Amino acid sequence: MKIAPISEELFQRAQNSIPGGVNSPVRAFRAVGGNPRFMVSAKGPYMYDEDGNRYMEFINSWGPMILGHAAEVVQEAVQQAIPNSLSFGAPTRKEIEIAELIVDMVPSIEKVRMVNSGTEATMSAVRVARGYTGRNKMIKFEGCYHGHGDSFLIAAGSGAITLGVPDSPGVTQGVAADTLTAPFNDLEAVKTLVEANKDQVAAIILEPVAGNMGLVLPAPGFLQGLRDLCTKEGIVLIFDEVMTGFRLAPGGAQQLFGVTPDMTTLGKIIGGGMPVGAYGGKKEIMNFVAPAGPVYQAGTLSGNPIAMSAGMAMLQYLQSHPEVYTTLEQTTTNMVNGMNQNMQELGLNFTINHVGSMFSIFFTSQAVTDFESAKTSDTAMFGRYFNSMLQRGVYLAPSQYESLFVSTAITDELVQEYIKANGEALKEALLR
Ligand SMILES: Cc1ncc(COP(=O)(O)O)c(C=O)c1O
Repeated sequence: MKIAPISEELFQRAQNSIPGGVNSPVRAFRAVGGNPRFMVSAKGPYMYDEDGNRYMEFINSWGPMILGHAAEVVQEAVQQAIPNSLSFGAPTRKEIEIAELIVDMVPSIEKVRMVNSGTEATMSAVRVARGYTGRNKMIKFEGCYHGHGDSFLIAAGSGAITLGVPDSPGVTQGVAADTLTAPFNDLEAVKTLVEANKDQVAAIILEPVAGNMGLVLPAPGFLQGLRDLCTKEGIVLIFDEVMTGFRLAPGGAQQLFGVTPDMTTLGKIIGGGMPVGAYGGKKEIMNFVAPAGPVYQAGTLSGNPIAMSAGMAMLQYLQSHPEVYTTLEQTTTNMVNGMNQNMQELGLNFTINHVGSMFSIFFTSQAVTDFESAKTSDTAMFGRYFNSMLQRGVYLAPSQYESLFVSTAITDELVQEYIKANGEALKEALLR
């Protein structure tokens, strides 16, 4: 039984100086009940909290810790870079090297610009798409999350759904009017929107594999259908691969599914855990970005030398170790098989969505293919299950509407521990 009085005390104290006690909403555990754990350190598959509890964990900083926490290859690169100063505000060789590496790894990217977060990447990409097409509107999908830029907080996923504010106050009607939304996997709905807004849609943006309403896979033909529609209508197709980039394959979901967007947004994994994002795409579009072109976008800390060093080490490792992807797939499949068996033995209604090293459990009898079906999951059951897993030292995302991420630090032995904890936690959650 994990008890956490120090975390509880810190959470109380945090409320006085930080809104809601956290610097990002989902961390507050509001959707699952209980107090968030305050972390001190992490290594490999484990995080350690202020109370000395250890957790086998499946958030991995919401994706980037693909090699587990404090991976030596990344740590060493950061340590080597630190003595040379933390920031220059002037160009460096490393920035070219990492740009060249990204262009090499991600099929659709011919030029890339570094920023500091996924939010910045998506905001900038849409601005560039608007500048390039001379059009204003954008289509996004219900339940997809693209960071907290104003125009994306319409039917937004992740923490926005978790807190029940998918349409945030503070977003003006003017901004909201330029964001059109369609259900994920509904190509006909997108075609209707495009038809009704002829020559006005600058961009269609989506997570090619949605991770922010829980994990939802693209239906066969959906991504290609969007590709064909965008080509026909002169719309910029943006794949938001902030979660899936470098995780589902070296070239992200676009490589896995064989569909090429015009622009791609990236984040997290490029920084190996440091604050980084990036957006890139076709040369003719990226040449609209200042100072090459007229669309303004800048950043004091963009291309930060420490973050670039971490990212370079991470990406080089992934590129030169393709076996990482088969290992992750196998580990995750073993976990999913074990969970399936546990759920069936208990006669539970459930759906597990899984691709590569990402998965989500939904407590529903329906297939989960979009936001509406994701919402049929029993979130109270999820909350009980989450807390029962936490008590057993397994840290899951504290919301139904998130994906879980597996790292290479999860050994076969840990998979068995996980499956055992999962079975016990499900039983406990059913009884409570
Ligand atoms: C698909 C997607 N896009 C954008 C973002 C925003 O990234 P950040 O939190 O780094 O601003 C996220 C964050 O989880 C994301 O999952």
